[in-house]
Amino acid sequence: MTTDLSGADLTAQVVASFAATGDRRLREILERLVVHLHALVEDVAPTIDEWSRAIDFLTATGKMCTDVRQEFILLSDVLGVSMLVETINHADTPEATSSTVLGPFHMVESPPRALGSDISPQSDGTRCVVQGRVVSTTGEPIAGAALDVWQADTHGFYDVQQPELQAQGNGRGLLTADGDGRFWFLTVVPAHYPIPTDGPVGDLLQATGRHPFRPAHIHFIVSAPGYTELTTHIFVADSAYIDSDAVFAVKDSLIRPFVPLTSETAARFGRGSDLETDIEIILAPAAEPASDDR
Ligand code: BEZ
Ligand code: FE
Repeated sequence: MTTDLSGADLTAQVVASFAATGDRRLREILERLVVHLHALVEDVAPTIDEWSRAIDFLTATGKMCTDVRQEFILLSDVLGVSMLVETINHADTPEATSSTVLGPFHMVESPPRALGSDISPQSDGTRCVVQGRVVSTTGEPIAGAALDVWQADTHGFYDVQQPELQAQGNGRGLLTADGDGRFWFLTVVPAHYPIPTDGPVGDLLQATGRHPFRPAHIHFIVSAPGYTELTTHIFVADSAYIDSDAVFAVKDSLIRPFVPLTSETAARFGRGSDLETDIEIILAPAAEPASDDR
């Protein structure tokens, strides 16, 4: 192998070095990675010092990761890569409810709760009823669908961020839809909050004059046998930062109004709440298993 290669020759040689890769998909990904990475480096032509700073940044990002902190996912989130991956992977089923990022706070198991339970019993603030129905893309109710729900409180904190103030499981619930695919629970209207800023990703936001906030939202993972699991949120319509989510995860179809409790909802669930919101969750059929052509 010669060492006095032009950029194009160098790229071609590195690409060729993967020719014996047994896993076809791995080979494709590595080849494209090298082509795009080399093009980026040629484009920005970093100084040695800039390249060294880039390596330092990635090193610091890795060092920040623990069992309960994933700084690389956060980096992927603030660069819009997480949303790009989500969007690409759900492009085939536009009739299903849009997916959005998982986020780092789904780190503990949600406690099983009965339909109609208060999932935020320790939280103060404006109380609301969240109700909806889980259906297929053809409108059939999905009886017994499982809904894993988690959210920040009225002050913008998840239970795991305040172990001294909130018991683990406050703001979380594992619910099972009824025979008609319906679900309903009580909670508080969540607040907007900042993503973690005490690591390299926070430094990046600071250096680029970007704010760290996410608009108020409630997370859902919805699953049922025979359907593709859906990871999504509902966003509180009038929340701060609804137009400038730090992780680019807002989709218009997921923005829900939180409106004063109707007499019908009050009659069904009691007058313990001020507001209500609803969402229809549409699950796509499970994908056929891919044939293994490697
Ligand atoms: C969240 O909504 O929990 C979240 C998502 C991405 C980055 C940080 C937080
Ligand atoms: Fe969140």
